[in-house]
Amino acid sequence: MYRSAKDIAGRIHDLYFPASHKVSWSFDGFIGWRPVRYFSYGRWALFEALQIAGIGKNDKILLPAFICRDILSAINTIGAIPVYYQVDKHMQLADAPDSLIPAKAILMVNYFGFPQELSSFQHYCRKTGAVLIEDNAHGFLSRDKEGQALGTRGDLGIFSLRKTLTLPNGAAMVINIPDKGYMIKRQIEPEQKRVSASFAAKRFLQNTRQLVNLRTIRIMTSAIRTVRKMTTGHGIAPSAPDVEFKLPGNAAPCMKLQYSLDHLDVEQEITRRRELYRLLDAVMRQNGFEPVFATLSAQVVPYAYPFFVSENQIDRAKKVLSMINLECFSWPELPEDVVPIAPDWFRNIRIISFSW
Ligand SMILES: Cc1ncc(COP(=O)(O)O)c(C=O)c1O
Repeated sequence: MYRSAKDIAGRIHDLYFPASHKVSWSFDGFIGWRPVRYFSYGRWALFEALQIAGIGKNDKILLPAFICRDILSAINTIGAIPVYYQVDKHMQLADAPDSLIPAKAILMVNYFGFPQELSSFQHYCRKTGAVLIEDNAHGFLSRDKEGQALGTRGDLGIFSLRKTLTLPNGAAMVINIPDKGYMIKRQIEPEQKRVSASFAAKRFLQNTRQLVNLRTIRIMTSAIRTVRKMTTGHGIAPSAPDVEFKLPGNAAPCMKLQYSLDHLDVEQEITRRRELYRLLDAVMRQNGFEPVFATLSAQVVPYAYPFFVSENQIDRAKKVLSMINLECFSWPELPEDVVPIAPDWFRNIRIISFSW
């Protein structure tokens, strides 16, 4: 389809700067008109899900060891106890479900928008009575093989919509089994928040997309990081020391969230993310890098391109990506308790983001 590396770079550029078409869409319809509440961050959505599920102090919550440390703030704020299970290199549950300790709730993560295999989690929940929380922070618009929207498969589902929509914040919590009698609280009033300087700059650049390209974004990002490094000592700000304990800011979603959802060009967004994934897959495989997921199934809408890279290959990966004006990031920043027990491959995953 693409004749040259220049063609590929050109197409990648177009996919990062899509023309915006405002159409009519409904998130409520997408989730099958289930009860939903909106929040600022996925962590608040998880906090709400845990509360609705009746999780209290000293209750055990199972979650994967391969996880970002900030999500612990929801669990720690309640006073519940996080207990980790293992995932394998394909991002699936590595432990036999019967070997997991009894817990009040278990978190199942759709990493990078790829569906987590449901059956082992359902088996565990049937056996123990645990509540299944589907962490779909990464998987907005993605579906499993049966066509079911990710985030609507667990008893409760969470979305971090801000990861795929250009918004100061935005997240959702969905109740997927209304007959369980879960009590849902009133929607918190959306708030007009002061946006950060970096978000304001991003929005400005998006509105003047004819004037910018991936190269200018890369140069600007690198200039910002240099200034930040000189002033704070860190090019990319590290997470706050209390990030495992303190939920971010307040829970109210931003005013723009509902409008963005109501006018989202879903078909364009699905096509955009899937095509970017396939293009980056071709580039990275050609250069000898192994993707985390061997295939991109029909209804999967990835949030980013994850691949394996060892420490001694990282400079080469950066060089390959700089040719197309992209970069990769390490994910996740592991919980403090996981760091000493993490297998090496946890540190060998990098992701290429689909937004800038
Ligand atoms: C798997 C997963 N779940 C939940 C969250 C929390 O989402 P938010 O950052 O919107 O609070 C994150 C954040 O990166 C995540 O990666």
